[in-house]
Order: sequence, then structure tokens, then C-alpha cells
Amino acid sequence: MEGLRRIGWPATAAVLTAALLLVMVPQVTSIRYIVGSDKGWSPNVNYTIWARGKHFYNGDWLFFVYDRNQMNVLEVNKTDFESCNSDHPLHNWTTGAGRDVVPLNVTKTYYFISGKGFCYGGMKVGIPVENAPPPPASLPEKSASAGLLSNFRGQIFIPTLLAAAAIWDACVLL
Ligand SMILES: *[C@@H]1O[C@H](CO)[C@@H](O)[C@H](O)[C@H]1NC(C)=O
Ligand SMILES: *[C@@H]1O[C@H](CO)[C@@H](O)[C@H](O)[C@H]1NC(C)=O
Ligand SMILES: *[C@@H]1O[C@H](CO)[C@@H](O)[C@H](O)[C@H]1NC(C)=O
Ligand SMILES: *[C@@H]1O[C@H](CO)[C@@H](O)[C@H](O)[C@H]1NC(C)=O
Repeated sequence: MEGLRRIGWPATAAVLTAALLLVMVPQVTSIRYIVGSDKGWSPNVNYTIWARGKHFYNGDWLFFVYDRNQMNVLEVNKTDFESCNSDHPLHNWTTGAGRDVVPLNVTKTYYFISGKGFCYGGMKVGIPVENAPPPPASLPEKSASAGLLSNFRGQIFIPTLLAAAAIWDACVLL
């Protein structure tokens, strides 16, 4: 309270607005999933269980974190996923850093395996990618894209303007 009184209302408003922005932005931002969460891309993780209950939407990202000296990240088709065949990947996502980002930009099921024998130990994951969810039902009936756009504007531009105004006020008063 002492601190709040000292920095005054405009600065407080700026802080509150910034906090509000932080809460709102994730609704319109893609999610980047770390595959395997804290265990990363490694043996002894059941990726079927990891993926269960998650909704992967077109526009989200996968982040594979692993030991670059041992594993790799290969996108394969369903047949090769089931048989752990890494001889003809659809896409080799391995960059060499052990930190590979995969954009999920097609609505389909992606199949990833690690080559070098690790697929047989369970390093394989199927990721069903869904179309982006429709805008919230409370919005007026419009086309989906128009709804998303107004949603986006309402959430980003208005708070940004408020924040800018609040910061301006703070500068003038200081
Ligand atoms: C996957 O690729 C292999 C080799 O190119 C092919 O024989 C197989 O039919 C493909 N499977 C699917 C489901 O496309
Ligand atoms: C995948 O790409 C990496 C980096 O270019 C390369 O070192 C590796 O040999 C490739 N792996 C396969 C299976 O194509
Ligand atoms: C998806 O992303 C990949 C990698 O950035 C790119 O090569 C591909 O063209 C993209 N596909 C679509 C449909 O945007
Ligand atoms: C992962 O868990 C599922 C569900 O419990 C099970 O059916 C599957 O066999 C497990 N996979 C591995 C590689 O252990």
C-alpha cells in the first residue's frame, strides 16, 4: 500500500493494465508445447500419455529438447511411425542443437520418432492437430475471421492505448 501511494494512480494504472495484458494475450497466442514437458524428448517417457487430453491446434508449436549427441527428430508417415522405420522421413526436423521447433501449421496428425534405435524404446509421438477453436460464443454472430479480428483488436489495441496513456500521465506528473 505504501508503495502504491508513493508511485501514484497513473503508474498503478499502467501496472494493472500491463498485468491485464499478460492475462489476455495467451488467449490469442499460439501455444508452444515442450514435448514430454519437464522430461523432454527422451527414453522412458510414454508420449501417448503425455499427449492425452491435450488439444493441439493449427498454429501451435512443438519444442523438442533432447541430447543432440544421441537422439533426433524425424517426421514420418503412419506406417513408418508404427514400424519405427526412419529410412525415409517426411521431414527431418533435426537442426543439431538438440532444440528443435516444429510449427503445427497443417490440420492433420503428425507422427514423430527418434531414429538411432530410440523409437523402439518408445520415443515416438502422434500429434493430432485440430483447426483453431472458434471465437467465444459471447461475440456477436459474424464470420469466424471477423470475430477473431475484433476479438484481437479488443484485447490488444485498447489495453495498449490505455497503457500508453497511463504511462504518459505518469511521465507528466513525475
Ligand atoms: C509411408 O511411406 C512408405 C515408404 O515411402 C510407404 O511404403 C507407405 O505406404 C507409406 N504409408 C502411408 C500411410 O502413407
Ligand atoms: C537430419 O538433419 C541433420 C542436420 O542437418 C543431419 O545431421 C542428420 O544426418 C539428418 N538425419 C537424417 C536421418 O536424415
Ligand atoms: C509449415 O511450416 C513449414 C516449416 O516452417 C513450412 O516449410 C511449410 O511451408 C508450412 N506449411 C504451410 C501450409 O504453411
Ligand atoms: C503408454 O501408455 C498407454 C496407456 O496406458 C499404453 O497403452 C501403452 O502401451 C504405453 N506405451 C508404452 C510404450 O509403454
